[in-house]
Amino acid sequence: MTETLEIKITKTSNSRLAQTDFENLPFGQIFTDHMFVADYADGEWKNLEIIPYGDILVSPAISSLHYGQSFFEGLKAYRHADGKISIFRPDKNAARFNKSADRLCMPALPEETFIQSIAALVDIDRDWIPSKPGYSLYLRPYMFATDRYLGVAPSKSYKYMVLACPVGAYFSKTLRVKIEDHYTRAAEGGMGYAKSSGNYGVSMYPARKAAEEGFDQLIWTDAKEHKYIEEMGAANAMFVLDGKLITPIAGDTILDGVTRNTVITLAKEWGYPVEERKVSVEEIMEGAKNGKLTDAFGAGTAATIASVGSISHNGEEYTLIDPKDREFSQRVLKTIDAIRYGNAPDTHGWNYIV
Ligand code: PLP
Ligand code: COI
Repeated sequence: MTETLEIKITKTSNSRLAQTDFENLPFGQIFTDHMFVADYADGEWKNLEIIPYGDILVSPAISSLHYGQSFFEGLKAYRHADGKISIFRPDKNAARFNKSADRLCMPALPEETFIQSIAALVDIDRDWIPSKPGYSLYLRPYMFATDRYLGVAPSKSYKYMVLACPVGAYFSKTLRVKIEDHYTRAAEGGMGYAKSSGNYGVSMYPARKAAEEGFDQLIWTDAKEHKYIEEMGAANAMFVLDGKLITPIAGDTILDGVTRNTVITLAKEWGYPVEERKVSVEEIMEGAKNGKLTDAFGAGTAATIASVGSISHNGEEYTLIDPKDREFSQRVLKTIDAIRYGNAPDTHGWNYIV
């Protein structure tokens, strides 16, 4: 039996729900009425609370602002046709949360605290969960260092918080993608596998340069030779080449995505050949040229299954087949959505019902 956490709840007397336009939900800009907060001090998590969403007061000296001891997670809650609410695979995010914490010398959060904090927030703000197909409640748990100290050392105090946003699609169109061959997101021995804030900060300059050239997303390559594919923006890169699902190994430099794992699990169940291995830029560009690359997409919580429309490397660019004619990604998206929205049996136990 897991113990139920003691969470102090202060409800808002001023809900913004009625004024929210659910027909217009730009990603990550509209927040629900409440948020979860907890403090870490003296070696333990305390002050577990749900409070009205709003600004917080922090010292200008907190070490996360200066040295980046900060990381986050991303997961989603879905509304089923019968009114049930489910959170998709929160146990996976709970485990990854602690992998990130460990890499950044930050304290672990008990997995049950992670899951129950999110479930409690989802429950209080359940009326905020959109019901339209493709829509959901994006959940953003995060932790940051709060010591007031300008020396470079792990903080002794931290805040854990969870925000929630009703959202639709992160990408509204098929992506024009560039394979990056100069800048690096993560190197061996670095933090690529963690969801540390710095990994996203480092990606912005190359992403901006690519956007100036007209690209929507970057495919990151290995730091040493820029010969092997790593990730696609804030999503895992997946391809169907020669009838096989291929994707880079989620090692040191790559985030071990929950969506990636879900796609691989389903593909294997369908008897699809799956290869988790080094994926060379050369084979992907060759497949794009000769038509053997029949599917390419980014897999992620925010991204869902984001189709690559065209792929470019060193000035060479190829358009892939129309996403609506792609057998694999169409089937995978349909299947995952059916499970998440409660329209197909959840045989894997992926839905955490709130
Ligand atoms: N890779 C990066 C860098 C990401 O930010 C994300 C998004 O969370 C992913 C991959 C996909 O991971 P998941 O499917 O767990 O959201
Ligand atoms: C997610 O899919 O949860 C992500 O982390 C992407 C985010 C950076 C928008």
